[in-house]
Amino acid sequence: MTRAEPARRVSAMVLTALLGAFVLAGFGPARAEEAGGEHEIERQDWSFGGFRGQYDQAQLQRGFQIYQQVCSACHSLDRVRFRNLAEPGGPDFPVEAVKQLAVTWPYQISGELDDEGNPIDRLPGLADPIIGPYKNDKQARAAQGGALPPDLSLIVKARTIHNESSWPLHVLTMLSDVVTGYQEGGADYVYGLLTGYKDPPPAGVEMAEGKYYNVVFPGHQLSMPPPLSKDSVVEYQPESGVKASFEQNAHDVTAFLAWASDPSLDSRKVLGWQVLLYLLITTVLLYLAKRSIWSGVKH
Ligand code: HEC
Repeated sequence: MTRAEPARRVSAMVLTALLGAFVLAGFGPARAEEAGGEHEIERQDWSFGGFRGQYDQAQLQRGFQIYQQVCSACHSLDRVRFRNLAEPGGPDFPVEAVKQLAVTWPYQISGELDDEGNPIDRLPGLADPIIGPYKNDKQARAAQGGALPPDLSLIVKARTIHNESSWPLHVLTMLSDVVTGYQEGGADYVYGLLTGYKDPPPAGVEMAEGKYYNVVFPGHQLSMPPPLSKDSVVEYQPESGVKASFEQNAHDVTAFLAWASDPSLDSRKVLGWQVLLYLLITTVLLYLAKRSIWSGVKH
């Protein structure tokens, strides 16, 4: 037996194991479906995706319009201040327009005291959070049949998608996500949720009172009625040049919520590239310095 043989045998075993894994991977999703497994959430193409992606300001503006016209009827955005809507890297509305928006917001700031110590309600201003219709969780639950519409400020960061494929594919997806800088699982989930209602629900599914079937929501029984629909698309300003559709509405509001949960993404990515460039230049300089220092020394 030559010395190379054991090495060859090991590589043959590794190859067989890998091949076996890929064959299994091919059957993975089918098996998951047979077992009534979870719905695979489709990944979307986001302008802010990957290592270099940035928010699309016009999309954030359209997304805010949808939040304002639809979602704000039930959901607050407590961690976003009105003034943030006028900041660069976000929807970047003119400050005057945002001031006007704040004082005409349908909900008032409550819980503050006047000079005599009496609780008062007042109009919001630029420095106030984007509040929702409910003063507290109990009031929200009472109005929503027991379900609590969560604050949407961090919802995109708070959700993600799960990889339902078999483990070899799972590992490959993980590796490719590292290489491509994929971090948009939360946005893909929210988009999937907004577009994932099924009416009527699949045959054999027993729905609880006041619940709506959603393919993406864990357990599939969601208390939120479909907020967007193909029959009542939110129209955009004609000058935006974008044709409104159900999917476009869902993309835009999701992009806006992604910004709300990560408002400094644009500047962070730019800084990241600048740091990499800086490190590259430093590496070259250090290399040249090392060569010049050691050039006269015999070694
Ligand atoms: C009529 C009230 C209402 C409107 C309008 C509404 N929602 Fe909701 N939403 C709810 C309720 C209630 C829940 C909690 C559902 C549950 O826990 O079953 C919820 C939950 C959610 C969740 C969390 C789901 C999860 O994974 O836990 C997201 C995301 C969401 N809504 C987004 C939106 C967006 C985006 C809009 C606007 C396009 C919107 N909602 C409009 C009532 C509403």
